[in-house]
Amino acid sequence: MVIIVIDSKIREVVKNLKPYVPGKSKEEIVRNYGIRPEDIIKLGSNENPWGCSPKIKNEILKEISKIHQYPEPINPILMEELSKFLNVGKDNIIVGGDGADEIIDTIFRTFVDDGDEVIIPIPTFTQYRVSATIHNAKIKYAKYDKEKGFKLDVDSVLNNITDKTKVIFLCTPNNPTGNIIDNKDIEKIINETDALVVIDHAYIEYSKKEYDWTQKAPEYDNVIVLRTFSKVFGLAGMRVGYGVGNKKIINYMMRVKPIFSSTRLSQVCAITALRDREFFERCVKDGIKSREMLYNGLKKFKDIKVYPSEANYLLVELKTMKSKEFCEELLKRGVIVRDCSSFDGLGDNYVRVSIGTFEEIEKFLKILKEIIN
Ligand SMILES: Cc1ncc(COP(=O)(O)O)c(C=O)c1O
Repeated sequence: MVIIVIDSKIREVVKNLKPYVPGKSKEEIVRNYGIRPEDIIKLGSNENPWGCSPKIKNEILKEISKIHQYPEPINPILMEELSKFLNVGKDNIIVGGDGADEIIDTIFRTFVDDGDEVIIPIPTFTQYRVSATIHNAKIKYAKYDKEKGFKLDVDSVLNNITDKTKVIFLCTPNNPTGNIIDNKDIEKIINETDALVVIDHAYIEYSKKEYDWTQKAPEYDNVIVLRTFSKVFGLAGMRVGYGVGNKKIINYMMRVKPIFSSTRLSQVCAITALRDREFFERCVKDGIKSREMLYNGLKKFKDIKVYPSEANYLLVELKTMKSKEFCEELLKRGVIVRDCSSFDGLGDNYVRVSIGTFEEIEKFLKILKEIIN
């Protein structure tokens, strides 16, 4: 018998990889805590609590008879709708079939060779670090400054730029801190580097319009904006994301992106979501209202500090409890929030709470009283 020592064949970066820790699903809580799905309040993954456009179901049913046929790698109707929605050219857009995560990975496949440097200010979305590690990039960490309410420390980015810098990640609003990066700070970084600056706008729909770089991105040689259908459009389960940038960048990325990753059903969902502008506008408005309700409710607890946010979630600092223990107490009562201890550079006493329906927020605040002061 041949004994295969498979470990010796695995890439070192994969052996040492600290994997992405996803937020908990409802299914997991049903299995582990025996709570009924309808009794669970999910405030852990920054989704849209009102779901997706009600028009989508019917469109999925119509498309289902075609799922034995490959999807079009670039769906012209989706490109047309996106172009209208964003007010940018069709050839400035790349759509990803595993959400914005796929666009992040495609950026690495397009730009980063072994040993190239990328700059990631932390705490931020963990997927940048995971993708960078898999692609053998050298990560240089900059910071969002806690002492200044997690404002981006621009110098910590600029001081890390070298000839080898290929990509700089700027998440705005930042996940998990919720704050935006000032326009002048983004401009300063773009102007001081020829590396690709990735402006991650996964939550931009919940922010003030002046912070949106989507329409400006194609004007630059070295900027790409990331967007997604997973948040306000309520399509996290369909996995559609997109990038917006200069034609040249988009063209190169199209060469390496997985060809058929965007499915027939996900394309139909995205098209229908874009066409139902009324549902979209209502979700933005109610999402912001829910965030305000949550913020005002959380501010009343003296044992926590809540940070202001331009996204669909709030970062909460716990003064008297560790996040693990806090999340466990909530889970027992059927509430999922995000334990932030897996976010690099944050520590073990932060949680992130997503917006919910108004009823869910009310219930959550009541349950919270049982756990803390
Ligand atoms: C900042 C940020 N960027 C990108 C993503 C990935 O989104 P998608 O579901 O489109 O892959 C997320 C998901 O939570 C995120 O928080």
